[in-house]
Amino acid sequence: MRLPDPALVVLVGASGSGKSTWAGSRYRSAEIVSSDALREVVGSGEHDLDASTDAFALLEQVVAARLGRGLTTVVDTLGTDVSRRRGWLAAARAAGLPAVAVVLDTPAGVCRSRNSARDRPVPARVLTSQLAAVASAVDLLEGEGWHVVRVAPDDVPDDAPAAAG
Ligand code: CTP
Ligand code: MG
Repeated sequence: MRLPDPALVVLVGASGSGKSTWAGSRYRSAEIVSSDALREVVGSGEHDLDASTDAFALLEQVVAARLGRGLTTVVDTLGTDVSRRRGWLAAARAAGLPAVAVVLDTPAGVCRSRNSARDRPVPARVLTSQLAAVASAVDLLEGEGWHVVRVAPDDVPDDAPAAAG
């Protein structure tokens, strides 16, 4: 699969869907702006939810600065926040960059089993609400103006290194 470059690429997928793995196997680390990685920068670790506000403030600043320079920017968050998506899309348009939403179409059961195998699994009920939020987001993306690319599980090599975040 070939995506435009430079571009804004916004990942959309539940925890364990493979967002960070997909991004890490295709983009340089400086191109990937990850809320988990920024929680680790400003908090006690990638799971420090108390650091979310600070982490997202930084994320927005980094995304705006990179897009303002016309640089490829991969946003590694759940991708389910409609107002954040709107802002990123507007910034990409202002910079003349294509805006691509990459949906990790990983079955719920796969997300769940990967999640339970992790060191710090997301609680099952949280994953359930993430999966519902992703499904709702997917219904909106085309209408919002994104070029939507769906990634089937097989598109991600199983031996790809998992990126931080
Ligand atoms: N994984 C896998 N095979 C894939 C993709 C991911 O086995 N094709 C594994 C990764 O090695 C990792 C887990 O599944 O242990 C979650 O993948 P990750 O890319 O970290 O998922 P994210 O969507 O980034 O999850 P989160 O939202 O929690 O960051
Ligand atoms: Mg991740």
